[in-house]
Amino acid sequence: MKKNILTGERPTGKMHLGHYFGSLKKRVELQDEYNMYIIIADLQALTDNFDNPDKIRENIKEVVMDNLSVGIDPKKVTIFIQSMIPELAELTMFYSNLVTISRLERNPTIKTELKQKKAIFGNNGESVTYGFLGYPVSQAADITLFDGEVVPVGEDQLPLIEQTREVVRKFNSIYGETFFEPIGLVGDVARVKGLDGNDKMGKSLGNAIYLSDSLEVIDKKIMGAVTDPNKIKKDDPANPNKCMVYYYHKLVNNNHPTVCSECKKGLRGCVACKKELIASMDSFLKPFREKRAFYENNPTLVDEIIKDGTNRARIKAKEKMKEIKKNMKIDYYQ
Ligand code: TRP
Ligand code: SF4
Repeated sequence: MKKNILTGERPTGKMHLGHYFGSLKKRVELQDEYNMYIIIADLQALTDNFDNPDKIRENIKEVVMDNLSVGIDPKKVTIFIQSMIPELAELTMFYSNLVTISRLERNPTIKTELKQKKAIFGNNGESVTYGFLGYPVSQAADITLFDGEVVPVGEDQLPLIEQTREVVRKFNSIYGETFFEPIGLVGDVARVKGLDGNDKMGKSLGNAIYLSDSLEVIDKKIMGAVTDPNKIKKDDPANPNKCMVYYYHKLVNNNHPTVCSECKKGLRGCVACKKELIASMDSFLKPFREKRAFYENNPTLVDEIIKDGTNRARIKAKEKMKEIKKNMKIDYYQ
């Protein structure tokens, strides 16, 4: 029997190169070997967007199409919406007894996010909600309800997987062997840097190349990317390692060793170098864009994929919930 993978994302916006190299690429590679579930985590997205439900609703299909555009095959993979699986909310409730508040406050992912979210929650943390602080518990439910053994995620998610492992150990030790301790699998490129040289590409940072970006948009973004500031004239030798253009050449252009040596010798102007990257990036993203266009033109097909996936996920969730309730001795009158 195939092992299960549970992975997914919050529907808060279109996906970018960071998502691709951090986890989407791995998903595509693993979809034959594993039984894969992709959760569209709308409830988790609401934990810090509860006042903006339109944004979450609008992005569900975007995120699904991003997954399909890179080659996720909906015949092999079960794509479903979190809020349509009530068992996830139940299991989150069961788990809430097994996690301490101080452990949640020490979770590195939560800590980083809290710092970034001061604008929403206020500086002294007084308005941090129960739902936000507890979302790692809900994520543990997501993974384990589907018997996830492997979780392809970005590097920033690893502390959430660790927290899931702790919950599983505690549950199993109290109620008996019920769940796997999942392992997180980070893509070959753990973290993709932003166009501005920031360590992380991110939507809110405004430094991302989206998988669905058009040639015009790619052109504009790459022309504005950060290069070695010491290179003033076209034939100045420069340090490609201080340049974001070279950084992306390495990701999408097989000709990158030439880029590197020519840059070091002053044999390459930045404008020409950027143009070459624009062409490489465009051919890299083109197949994704084309596949996406197919789904954009067939929106009811996307709806069917989501509905069908959610129905399959429901069956699995019901089955697993029976086992969980039995082990917890709350299987009354069944
Ligand atoms: N936390 C993930 C994100 O920010 C989304 C997510 C929800 C998830 N549940 C999950 C990822 C379970 C992997 C496994 O995008
Ligand atoms: Fe960067 Fe290319 Fe300019 Fe070198 S030549 S600094 S790699 S853009």
